[in-house]
Parts: sequence; structure tokens; C-alpha cells
Amino acid sequence: MPIEDCRIIELPKIEDPRGNLTFIEGGRHIPFNIGRVYYLYDVPGGSERGAHGHRALQQVIIALSGSFEVTLDDGQAKRSFTMNRAYCGLYVPPMLWREIRNFSSGAVCMVLASDHYDEQDYFRDYQVFLASTQRP
Ligand code: TYD
Repeated sequence: MPIEDCRIIELPKIEDPRGNLTFIEGGRHIPFNIGRVYYLYDVPGGSERGAHGHRALQQVIIALSGSFEVTLDDGQAKRSFTMNRAYCGLYVPPMLWREIRNFSSGAVCMVLASDHYDEQDYFRDYQVFLASTQRP
């Protein structure tokens, strides 16, 4: 089940009294080649993002600032993660429905993705996603 493959990746953290520093190197810290980076910000209180699945895209989700909750669902089981550390990434393999909610004020959600944006890779309808997860 894809849900068993999602995990928190701890990124390097260089602690410094002047402020901490985290870095991500391609081919080293992330289990795929980074093809795209995008981020959610200025999220109004109570707003929810996500509510879709991906056929092939892999992602790592990082709370660069503030906090939010990610719920992953493979059609049989769900797992929720509170993201609130800029040095922790949530690895999201393909074929998981994801919902992101409870954004704190000022939260920034950065997503590293394995490929360019492609609407054909999305499941936008939960019932269609569920049907595609059923084994014969
Ligand atoms: P979407 O992935 O549906 O965001 P969410 O599920 O969080 O609401 O994307 C919202 C819109 O932004 C949609 O019209 C597609 C567009 N978009 C891009 O053009 N490029 C991207 O890399 C992403 C992630 C979205």
C-alpha cells in the first residue's frame, strides 16, 4: 500500500546562533530528481488545499514557516502529519489522496515535485481515485 511508503525525511540542519540553515541537494536528500518547486502562502484561515491525488508524481512537502496538517489516504488507510519544522519533509509517493488544512497564520508550504505540472497526472474526483485503487 502506498501509505506505508510515506515518511518524514529529516533534512540537514546547521544550527547557528545567527539563525539555522537547512539545505537540500538533488540526488542526495530527496528520493527523486526534483523537476519542480512550488509553494502555498498567504493561505486564509480555515482554507483547505490539496484534495487530489497523483498517478505518478512524487512529492516532498515542507513547512518552511508556520504549520499545517497533511492527511494522506491510499483508499484503504489514512495517515495524518502535522508539519511544523523547516528541516522535515513529508515524502508523498504516487497514488495517495492528500488534503492539507489547519494552516497557521503566515504558513508557507513548499513542495518539491518529481516532474513538471501536468493536469493529466491528477485525480480530481475522490470516487475516481478510489476506483483506481481497487484490486480485482
Ligand atoms: P492545485 O494543484 O489544484 O492546487 P490545490 O490542490 O492545492 O488547490 O493547483 C491550483 C492551480 O494552480 C491549478 O489551476 C493548477 C495550477 N498549478 C500550476 O499551474 N502549476 C503548478 O505547479 C501547480 C502545483 C498548480
